[in-house]
Amino acid sequence: MDMEKIRELVSQMTLEEKAGMCSGADFWHTKAVERLGISAVMVSDGPHGLRKQDEASDHLGINDSIKAVCFPAGCALASSFDRNLAEHMGRVIGEECQAEGVSTILGPAVNIKRSPLCGRNFEYYSEDPYATAEMSTALIRGVQSKNVGTSVKHFLANNQEKRRMTSSSDVDERTLREIYMVPFEGAVKNGKPWTVMNSYNRINGTYVGESKQYLTDLLRDEWGFDGYVMSDWGAVNDRVEALKAGMDLEMPSSNGVNDALIVKAVQEGILDEAVVNQACERILNIVFRYMENRDENAVFDMVKDHETASSVEEECIVLLKNDSDENGKHILPLNREQKIAFIGKYAEAPRYQGGGSSHINSWKVESALEAVKDIANVVYAKGFDDAADKADETLEVEAVHTAKDADVAVIFAGLPDSFESEGYDRTHLNLPDCQNRLIEKICNVQKNVVVVLHNGSPVIMPWKDSVSAIVEAYLGGQAVGKAEIKVLFGEVNPSGRLSETFPNRLEDTPCYLTYGKGKDHAEYQEGVFVGYRYYTTRDMDVQYPFGYGLSYTTFGYSNLMTDKTELTDTETLTVSVDVENTGYCSGKEVVQLYVAPVNSEVPRPVRELKGFEKIALEPDEKKTVTFTLDERAFAVWNTDFHCWDVPDGVYLIQICRNAQEVILEVAVQAKNTKRPRQKYTANTCMGEFFTDPKAQQIFGQMMAGNEQTKEMEESSQSEAISPEMLAAMMQDMPLRQLISFVPGMTWDAVNEILSVLNVD
Ligand code: BGC
Repeated sequence: MDMEKIRELVSQMTLEEKAGMCSGADFWHTKAVERLGISAVMVSDGPHGLRKQDEASDHLGINDSIKAVCFPAGCALASSFDRNLAEHMGRVIGEECQAEGVSTILGPAVNIKRSPLCGRNFEYYSEDPYATAEMSTALIRGVQSKNVGTSVKHFLANNQEKRRMTSSSDVDERTLREIYMVPFEGAVKNGKPWTVMNSYNRINGTYVGESKQYLTDLLRDEWGFDGYVMSDWGAVNDRVEALKAGMDLEMPSSNGVNDALIVKAVQEGILDEAVVNQACERILNIVFRYMENRDENAVFDMVKDHETASSVEEECIVLLKNDSDENGKHILPLNREQKIAFIGKYAEAPRYQGGGSSHINSWKVESALEAVKDIANVVYAKGFDDAADKADETLEVEAVHTAKDADVAVIFAGLPDSFESEGYDRTHLNLPDCQNRLIEKICNVQKNVVVVLHNGSPVIMPWKDSVSAIVEAYLGGQAVGKAEIKVLFGEVNPSGRLSETFPNRLEDTPCYLTYGKGKDHAEYQEGVFVGYRYYTTRDMDVQYPFGYGLSYTTFGYSNLMTDKTELTDTETLTVSVDVENTGYCSGKEVVQLYVAPVNSEVPRPVRELKGFEKIALEPDEKKTVTFTLDERAFAVWNTDFHCWDVPDGVYLIQICRNAQEVILEVAVQAKNTKRPRQKYTANTCMGEFFTDPKAQQIFGQMMAGNEQTKEMEESSQSEAISPEMLAAMMQDMPLRQLISFVPGMTWDAVNEILSVLNVD
């Protein structure tokens, strides 16, 4: 339905009907107005599968939903670094939504992993804004290609679970722009989501849901968002202020309480009815978009989608370690003829999803123990039992025996449900003690130990150097076991790369000093130095860096080239590099491009990810990978002019194996042409004048004619102050200081200089 017809429809609604349209009918539906042919439509969680609830509704994953398919969670999907894969998964979920009559799936969740402690990191994508934006945009495109909406959440700066409903994220403008807004900006501009979900929290004291600055000025006016904004569940503080700011739909229903406030505010002249009309128009635009594009033939084929969940997870698994023996033979892939022991509860009952609103009622779970049946004979010992961090002596003894008797022991470890969930944050990065102890005991009796991890966020691995191989499966969805077996036995060559840093210690993390500390204020003091931006800039050792991941083959890089060596901020730079599979089996490589400013005056991270491509290569095959970089690859957010700004200077274009390992690099020179010229004042320092040719001339003439400055220069050649020292001291001296140091200098002369130099 076009906007004109929608406006016409809204004009026929009563004020009460319109106020009602601005909130849910119940937990999961918008309201119908039958007399006008307006249907109620359903929204459901998300993001990595369908959580469609029938009767007993809640947003914390307490009550059951319909049986569905659980795909790999955001933490895993992001590790694939494969946009096509994310889009494919989105299409499958979109089809499921069509089949189930769900108009909008509540995701993707794109908040930045500010700290590995955030309880909800398993749903989020990355500590890197660009990677998050790219992967979530692909998912959105996939879902929406099926004429089902997405809801990019949680907008904005919702990076902790602690007091998430009231806490204020106190963040500076540059950090918001460069880190926390980027995923939403990318998703909105390139994915065109039908809806955006505003977060519970405040930013610098104001609820996001009441911020015109974010919901309207930024989202709509600057980024061009044209769908509707819905509240996170219950994220409404002042309904009238929220509506004015641009929060169109309150979810879930307030049972009429807040609708009545809207009606009253209009009647009392506090709220312009046009604001209510506009919100209704935005909501109905999306409701009709869905209703008019229903696909009655869509089917939810759970068997097929289970296979998709497995094939997606195959691309997400990250191989962290794979030692070789004295003959150079790696421990992985496993050899079917070996005597293999599977140890650990998660071999039989994997942890494959997180707790809270994203919890899927999986129709089937495929464990590694089940999937291995067709491949090899393995012996199994449970090793540890439940979520409680208590060792079970009997299980432990049995596991150690089983491992000792085998040629290789594969331990399926991970975080229990209670260790990470929506609604609260972690307090440490450890696995349960009982699991760490079990791994160590097994290492004492078995030299070939492989650990497979099931977790939604980084863990500390005290046994890292004692085991031979580590496989990070993340929370890999209901078919995780099948994907693991394919990777362990080499049917699939692992190609995931970490989308977050695994630090050595919690104390090393960038926001360790502030995270979770303030009662109602979260101070983002680390600024833009989030994740690898912090560790690389401080040159710190970590367990595994961002972008890290091994393969069963090897890749060689050569021929890094750029199409120019100098560029301005209005030009693009084309970068190409050759990548070759130099090993013996086919495999996929994630080619990572970072931009590293050289001698930046603005405090900036050592390098930032600005491009990635996942490519498949047969042995000896070589491909050229091309990237196009625009202004944003070089820019910082300028807080004087409130715009993106490329500082003049040299930038290294780096092709890296991960955030810490540069393979090839080439330098380019960038020049700013867009920044408005800043006017000189009496407080401008001399260093800035020295770089301006016109100023150089004026000051040159002035100094040449002045006896005292000549004397100063002469004495500086012989005595304590060298000319270089004098120049260095002058650098940071404001123009007005010349009055004290240069005899004959007057305010008239200062103003005269300024008026000459400030002429455009
Ligand atoms: C979560 C959202 C979720 C909503 C509905 C909230 O508590 O933060 O991500 O979509 O509930 O379940």
